[in-house]
Amino acid sequence: MEDFDFENRIISPTEIMGENDNDNPLRPRTLEDYIGQEKVKQNLAVFIEAARQRNETLDHVLLYGPPGLGKTTLSGIIANELGVNLRITSGPAIEKPGDLAAILTNLNEGDVLFIDEIHRISRAVEEILYPAMEDFAIDIVTGKGQMAASYHLPLPRFTLVGATTRAGQLTSPLRDRFGVNLRLELYSPEELSRIINRSASILGISIEPDGALEIASRSRGTPRIANRMLKRVRDFAQVLSDGVITLDTARTALERLEIDELGLDSNDRRMLEAIVKFYNGGPVGLETLAAAIGEEAITIEDVIEPYLMQIGFLSRTPRGRCITKAGLLHLGLDISSGEETQMKFE
Ligand code: ADE
Repeated sequence: MEDFDFENRIISPTEIMGENDNDNPLRPRTLEDYIGQEKVKQNLAVFIEAARQRNETLDHVLLYGPPGLGKTTLSGIIANELGVNLRITSGPAIEKPGDLAAILTNLNEGDVLFIDEIHRISRAVEEILYPAMEDFAIDIVTGKGQMAASYHLPLPRFTLVGATTRAGQLTSPLRDRFGVNLRLELYSPEELSRIINRSASILGISIEPDGALEIASRSRGTPRIANRMLKRVRDFAQVLSDGVITLDTARTALERLEIDELGLDSNDRRMLEAIVKFYNGGPVGLETLAAAIGEEAITIEDVIEPYLMQIGFLSRTPRGRCITKAGLLHLGLDISSGEETQMKFE
């Protein structure tokens, strides 16, 4: 079986260098410019305003949801709306407790510290984070044996914004220290279409409304994918036609990129086909499926499954993953062949 290449496929929601730059012009800077996630926005606006009125720092915020939905963007907006600096790091980048201590002691009063993939910080680093979040202080131990000394170091009050793909991946003591918990959801095609039109206007791309909607409906509910697709479709429009993205050019381009009407690429289809061919439609355990298609279980769970479940192609049962009737139909498989198969997918 061919290897999957999730990182480099056009519909990968994981970041490519440059996309996450702070000067990315597509990134909205204010809550007002941010499209979608209405509930999150409304609540966040209240918490930000309340903190501002009381002249306090905002409570720590946990953002969770599938990759590519705007967690980093939101942390920038929070800092911007509060009028403070934003410091960005990630769980894997903080290797030692000393790394975190250096970041924390360099913050200014009220700053926002964004830790992406916060579920990936080590236990030792997490131990430092608890008192930092709760008491705005850290205890540093230097030396060993008789030379050991401990310092209690007060920190400026700051707001930690943590991001993770699933809140369940955090230890409960860490999760409990966030006062604000916000879950981001996949975007509707209409919201994505508005985002695409906004991005097109910033980048000076001509696009017709049904061209935008076509890209939107193939972007798996994810703005990062939508913006990436917009740029690739623009290339096709420019080279193959007059540069304007119409419904027709969008369709042709996405066909050439092998992204189907629902945004699935050959890898998604192969995963669904593997469930049918090797496991008779399921249920199949996550680890077994991961081994069968040569992909990490965590990638399947965080990157592939949310969208396939959202569109009703995949169901998770206690005994494993199953393809649904809708999923089978999409693959063009005959669901009426064999009584046993038919019953299974009722
Ligand atoms: N670009 C990427 N995500 C966006 C969003 N949610 N709103 C506006 N522009 C965006």
